[in-house]
Amino acid sequence: MKIELTDEIKKFTEFAKEEITISRFEHSQRVADIALELSIIHGYKSPSDAYLAGILHDITKQKNNSFHIEIFKNHKFEYIDLPTQAYHAFSASFVLQDRFNFNKIEVLNSIQSHTLGSDEMSLLEKILYVSDFLGSEYALRAEEYSLWLENSKKDIYFGMYLKSSKTIQDLTEKKLPIHTNTITVYNNTVKRLIPNHSIS
Ligand SMILES: [Fe+2]
Ligand SMILES: [Fe+2]
Repeated sequence: MKIELTDEIKKFTEFAKEEITISRFEHSQRVADIALELSIIHGYKSPSDAYLAGILHDITKQKNNSFHIEIFKNHKFEYIDLPTQAYHAFSASFVLQDRFNFNKIEVLNSIQSHTLGSDEMSLLEKILYVSDFLGSEYALRAEEYSLWLENSKKDIYFGMYLKSSKTIQDLTEKKLPIHTNTITVYNNTVKRLIPNHSIS
């Protein structure tokens, strides 16, 4: 599927390219392509915004904690309970607002929730959450990749279940705490799976 390269898409693609390493940028392009496809399949009203969310979701991923914390303080954003791996999701949305007056609220919300998910996610939030996983090196290397992609096209809840369960598995193996939002996404989606969608 090809995206129409509007001035907005071109501008933010150039910006993303300057902010992150080439491998992170390539991940963002994969996420954007998958988000575009899933948005068309699942009927999201603005596939180009889904693509944009994919391009922009990790723009601050490679900044250090002091960068994120300074932004949080400027915005009086409460970050104490936020795991450090989710800092970039929130700082990215603040950077877009501060530097570009970016005000597409659904895109900003989807960027904010792409790491942890949340209890009530909009269609675009679901799409970006799933696309981020399917565009990861980890997912791409998996033998089951094409099955995961196909099942996520049939049922977005499958992709959400997949990402949340893999995150829980990974954190458990590393003996790291699991954020309650991740458990909530898992609980909300495991019961909504279309029967016979196995994880592998
Ligand atoms: Fe991310
Ligand atoms: Fe990502």
